[in-house]
Amino acid sequence: HSVGIIGAPFCKGQPRAGVQLGPDVIRKAGLVNKLENQGCMVKDYGNLVFEKVSNDEPISGTKQPRAVGLANKQVADAVQRIKHDGYTCVMLGGDHSLAIGSIHGHAACRPELSVVWVDAHADINTPLSSPTGNIHGQPMSYLIPEDVVYIGLRDVDPGEHYILKYLGIKIFSMTDVDRLGIAKVMEQTCDHIFSKIKKPVHLSYDIDALDPLVTPATGTPVIGGLSYREGIYITEHVCQTGLLSALDVVEVNPNLAKSEEEVNRTANVAVDLVLGCFGRMREGSHPDDYKIP
Ligand code: ARG
Ligand code: MN
Ligand code: MN
Ligand code: MN
Repeated sequence: HSVGIIGAPFCKGQPRAGVQLGPDVIRKAGLVNKLENQGCMVKDYGNLVFEKVSNDEPISGTKQPRAVGLANKQVADAVQRIKHDGYTCVMLGGDHSLAIGSIHGHAACRPELSVVWVDAHADINTPLSSPTGNIHGQPMSYLIPEDVVYIGLRDVDPGEHYILKYLGIKIFSMTDVDRLGIAKVMEQTCDHIFSKIKKPVHLSYDIDALDPLVTPATGTPVIGGLSYREGIYITEHVCQTGLLSALDVVEVNPNLAKSEEEVNRTANVAVDLVLGCFGRMREGSHPDDYKIP
């Protein structure tokens, strides 16, 4: 695997400070070294630098729209560059509003892409349906990919539920994960997105999809989430398709942890999710040319 990493230290899609520290916390947990140790070719493009936006008044309830717009333009350009350089792109957030730019930039290079959105939330509010005005609860409403599958939903606003049903979007809520088990969920996810042709996959992974006991350091935790094993299984399955083309890991917020241990727990799980996307297998593995010493 060749992996291009871009950090997006951005928090203005939501109100809680600290989520802009996500990229560095995840790097500090050893992301690049661990990817290299499992045989990946890694290029770290560093962190984007976002300029301050003044007079960023809400527009009919939508908060910090100019800052979010400008940041996402930068993210889209960076993702496009990384795809042009030939890497699978990993965007480290930052809040989930950054998926607007990440998916937009990815789609500029791979127009036929499909999206697997792993999240407690649907993030498909429109500016009119949003109960909060936070754009991290809205990114999917600005994107119109052909094939989308949601996994892990358990906190969906009424307007969002209406939109999901109205558009007939494929969802696997936590109820579906309970009923089917994660293996069947992933089988059916792939049946859905690869029904016609083998499309490149954009995996957008909100860390709050996992249970707050597994990843406590996040801004909008919701009880009853994916277990560590279910969360990792998703990455192993997506990896085995051979079609993963871009990955977002978002909403890690170290300031919301109750202890240093909670920060490390969350960051280590975030790293494990990335490793699972790029070939790590729990059964173990060895290089083709391995010889017993
Ligand atoms: N549905 C709520 C909203 O629209 C919460 C969204 C949480 N999103 C997230 N990316 N954590 O504000
Ligand atoms: Mn292009
Ligand atoms: Mn979420
Ligand atoms: Mn989200």
